[in-house]
Amino acid sequence: MSQIQDYPSLFSLAGKTAVVTGGSRGLGLHVATGLILAGCTKLIITSRKASACADAVRSLQALSTKATILSLPADLSKPSEVERFVKELTAVTDGKVDILIANAGATWGEAFDTHSDAAFDKVMNLNVRSVFNLIRLCTPLLENAARQSSEKARVVTVGSVAGLHIGGIGQYGTYGYAASKAAVLHLTKHLAVELGPRGILLNAIAPGFFPSKMASGLIAASGGEEAMAREVPDGRLGKPEDIVGSIVFLCSRAAEHINGAVLPIDGGKHVVPSGVKL
Ligand SMILES: NC(=O)c1ccc[n+]([C@@H]2O[C@H](COP(=O)([O-])OP(=O)(O)OC[C@H]3O[C@@H](n4cnc5c(N)ncnc54)[C@H](OP(=O)(O)O)[C@@H]3O)[C@@H](O)[C@H]2O)c1
Repeated sequence: MSQIQDYPSLFSLAGKTAVVTGGSRGLGLHVATGLILAGCTKLIITSRKASACADAVRSLQALSTKATILSLPADLSKPSEVERFVKELTAVTDGKVDILIANAGATWGEAFDTHSDAAFDKVMNLNVRSVFNLIRLCTPLLENAARQSSEKARVVTVGSVAGLHIGGIGQYGTYGYAASKAAVLHLTKHLAVELGPRGILLNAIAPGFFPSKMASGLIAASGGEEAMAREVPDGRLGKPEDIVGSIVFLCSRAAEHINGAVLPIDGGKHVVPSGVKL
């Protein structure tokens, strides 16, 4: 007989403290919702706009009376703000974070010939540099959590299939964004090796298209949701449950031997050979 220990707790996040950047809307709000429903008892979200954060906290708090849900607004594109955020985070978590989801990100779509240095800098800065700084400064908090628990701490970075294959070229070229997402996927693997021995597992998700404020412009420019869905092997775009299922799994005991992985969540579009019409 197989010796599976305590199956009911395998996918549970009961009692965990989690942090979600960009948790005020879109994928980050889906993630925050899933973490609360999976049992996290402390959740801290952040984004630049305090009022959007407060609205999100209110909607999340309605899901659980047991959990403490807070927001610490910060502009993570600035290193000084990342430092301030982690200082405040340390105070409200007693220096212990089990789960960090580095989700906040920005994109830029513009033709190659006019694609400016400022646009490139904006996306590389938030999508890569700030993710590195955030993980580096949160490492003592994650190590504390791992020391106080029988489970390893988790970091999940939010990359994109844009970092796996060539997507946006032409009028809405996403040159900096694609490079930033390839970079964050590679950074995640690099840090999985660095931090695994320190009790922290790092994995990345690489979503395809999910309707959100960020994606809406590109979805409209690509002919709308239905047209885009026809190009996906499972016939649809992403929905909240797709993100939640993957994140909860990667943060749970079920994924305790998964480190340095990149999980595409795109219905199989990234493996469609070029030129193949579905
Ligand atoms: N939607 C998709 O189809 C898709 C596909 C692949 C990957 N992704 C990735 O998923 C992540 C979330 O995307 P989304 O579609 O949910 O985008 P979104 O709707 O634009 O949400 C972005 C979130 O990040 C926050 N944010 C933006 N700039 C920030 C900054 N400088 N400091 C702190 N927070 C900041 C935003 O809040 P504030 O404006 O208040 O700061 C918001 O909460 C991104 O990393 C994106 O690249 C999305």
